[in-house]
Amino acid sequence: VVNIGLLHTGLRGEEKLICQAAKIFKVNCELIDVRKEILNSSINKDWSKNDIYIERCIATSMGLHSIRYLDNINIEVINSIETAQICNSKFATTTRLLQCGVPTVPAYLVFTEEQAKNAVEKLGGYPVVVKSDSGSWGRLMAKVSDEQALESIVEHKQILGGVNHNAIYIQQYVRKPGRDIRTFVFGSELKAAIYRNSEHWITNTARGGKASKCNLDIDLVKICKDTALALATDKVKDGGIIALDVFEDEEKGYLVNEVNHTMEFKNSEEPTGVSISNEIIQYLIDRIKK
Ligand SMILES: Nc1ncnc2c1ncn2[C@@H]1O[C@H](COP(=O)(O)OP(=O)(O)OP(=O)(O)O)[C@@H](O)[C@H]1O
Ligand SMILES: [Mg+2]
Repeated sequence: VVNIGLLHTGLRGEEKLICQAAKIFKVNCELIDVRKEILNSSINKDWSKNDIYIERCIATSMGLHSIRYLDNINIEVINSIETAQICNSKFATTTRLLQCGVPTVPAYLVFTEEQAKNAVEKLGGYPVVVKSDSGSWGRLMAKVSDEQALESIVEHKQILGGVNHNAIYIQQYVRKPGRDIRTFVFGSELKAAIYRNSEHWITNTARGGKASKCNLDIDLVKICKDTALALATDKVKDGGIIALDVFEDEEKGYLVNEVNHTMEFKNSEEPTGVSISNEIIQYLIDRIKK
């Protein structure tokens, strides 16, 4: 009998679907609200009673602390701390993908207005997209069309932003065909993908983008596999369970925008016809066997 521990900070539809899938596969799934835990290896909680853990925290920082702790006491968590840390930083993701030759949206990280202007020049000029290094749900990002707007955004970040906003991540603006692609990747294998269509340049479903099925062509399969392998670690050699944002660039083809390590998927099962929650449980069972 297989025992899985699910780390969370509140149950969304996704976590409920994972529990249902566990029932279908007849595996035990223990729900662990990390906010109710006291993490310290001198406290005798028997973390080893589960074969593997999956981290599904909405609060990213609590998720990272929990994964790091379990990793330190040699308990396996998907995703690994290495993968999670890279995905948590857009800049770390850009850097890793570049190092591994995976096509990604050109981007820089800067700390001052002056270097922000120089970075825009290196990116080929305006428009650019300014983001915080670890954002989600399409929040706190700006499409910046000229130098005056850039000055203003940098000033707002510096004066109002707090420590998380003293680093400015600047990306080339990609002219997308009114949509982007969200792919679901399990152990370097692309299993499902949706288009997110929107009139707005920000196409997140959290911001009103409409999901529809995206066919898995060989180029998409390849960029997903290469991304997963770029994130592989000594412990988790296949890249774990990740979701990619992929843009279709008219000239360059597919480009990875970012990678998510605790993906939302409940609205993607119906359009794709793929049970992503079943895939998650299947992946965890396969990992335990390895
Ligand atoms: N450089 C860009 N060029 C064109 N569109 C972009 C660019 N960056 C982001 N977008 C649009 O904004 C959306 C959100 O951007 P991104 O995925 O980087 O942010 P996020 O807040 O981390 O999202 P998530 O909820 O996936 O974590 C993208 O899905 C895309 O539609
Ligand atoms: Mg995204």
